[in-house]
Amino acid sequence: MAEFSSFCQRIQGDGAAAWDIHMQAQKAAGRGEDVIVMSVGDPDMDTPVEVVDKAITSLRAGDTHYVDVMGKVELRRAIAYRHRQRSGQAVSEDQVMVFCGTQNALFASLLCLVEAGDEVIVIEPAYVTYEASIGATGATLVRVSCAADTGFALDIDALGAAITPQSKLILLCSPNNPTGLVLSQAELEAVADLAIKHDLWLVCDDVYGELVYGDNYLAMASIDRVADRLVTLSSLSKSHAMSGWRVGWAIGPQALMGHFYNTALTMLYGLPGFIQEGAICALTDAWDERKTMRDVYAKRMLMVQQALQDMPHLIPLQPQAGMFILVDVRSTGLTSQAFVEQLYQQQGVSVLSAAAFGACAEGFVRISFALADDLLDKGLQRIRQFVTGL
Ligand SMILES: Cc1ncc(COP(=O)(O)O)c(C=O)c1O
Repeated sequence: MAEFSSFCQRIQGDGAAAWDIHMQAQKAAGRGEDVIVMSVGDPDMDTPVEVVDKAITSLRAGDTHYVDVMGKVELRRAIAYRHRQRSGQAVSEDQVMVFCGTQNALFASLLCLVEAGDEVIVIEPAYVTYEASIGATGATLVRVSCAADTGFALDIDALGAAITPQSKLILLCSPNNPTGLVLSQAELEAVADLAIKHDLWLVCDDVYGELVYGDNYLAMASIDRVADRLVTLSSLSKSHAMSGWRVGWAIGPQALMGHFYNTALTMLYGLPGFIQEGAICALTDAWDERKTMRDVYAKRMLMVQQALQDMPHLIPLQPQAGMFILVDVRSTGLTSQAFVEQLYQQQGVSVLSAAAFGACAEGFVRISFALADDLLDKGLQRIRQFVTGL
């Protein structure tokens, strides 16, 4: 066989081992075995019924043809409106490009902004696909670690020190997966100052932005002075339990949109029209559903945190958003991966090694609470049995 391109190597993440237990658990659950999957960030709730109805009606009405490659103008308008509401950033639909989820928007953004010879700074712990997405462009990933002992707070000095003449972009995720932490205004301002000083792009993954429990969240887009160097990514996957619909977007300077258009023309050619109709409904008539979902996660987070706090050896972090909780398991004496493997073998509960999100999170595991209350309860009881028996 002839050789594959070097691209195939560059998109190979090394997090495979971390997902191994998760994959085993998914398969076992599929076979109807008694396992509890607490390792994934796919909302357990259903997409709001009016969103589903709108998509079906559009499908039946024949919305089955090519659509605007940028995304339907009504959808881009609705995205721009919600973004303005959330951040105060004055954007119009001409600065919005619809992609196939945040992940696709990230991939396209990186392709348009960096290349071989450039450095992309990622703040760890960071979402597992970032490494391969950056690798795809040929750019070099530069890691800035947040220390476990500061509660994974952003180290601005370390970020500043990581910047070199090759630096081109800082990739942020706030609220963060896996920590569930949001960057404070002071942190956002400090990152903005660095980006301006060193003439860097900022790409901010806001996919959990609508699932913040309190009211202290500020999006990077709220910092006016970075508007010409900021790309904000998000989707309906988490906010409206629409992960399978694959509707996401990138919002950025107008000059970037033509490049997005060309990128989408060669790899996507727009999202299905009826899917976009459902998305418009999510951003308009069903907009408040996100609050209902957020409140469910907020309630579960407290329940899970309290339960974990009472267990021997475990110290849970206090997430501010999302559907995960990071738990310090260092006092068990086990590595993250050993904890995950033994928990699964002994109790049939899958959680994720947080070390997959960066070496600085070694000694932590990520527990998802994107599952129904009864399963969550059962999963927690089994985790208690496991740690009690250590
Ligand atoms: C931080 C982060 N970014 C992006 C994604 C991908 O989201 P989407 O479904 O919008 O592509 C996820 C999914 O879990 C995520 O956790």
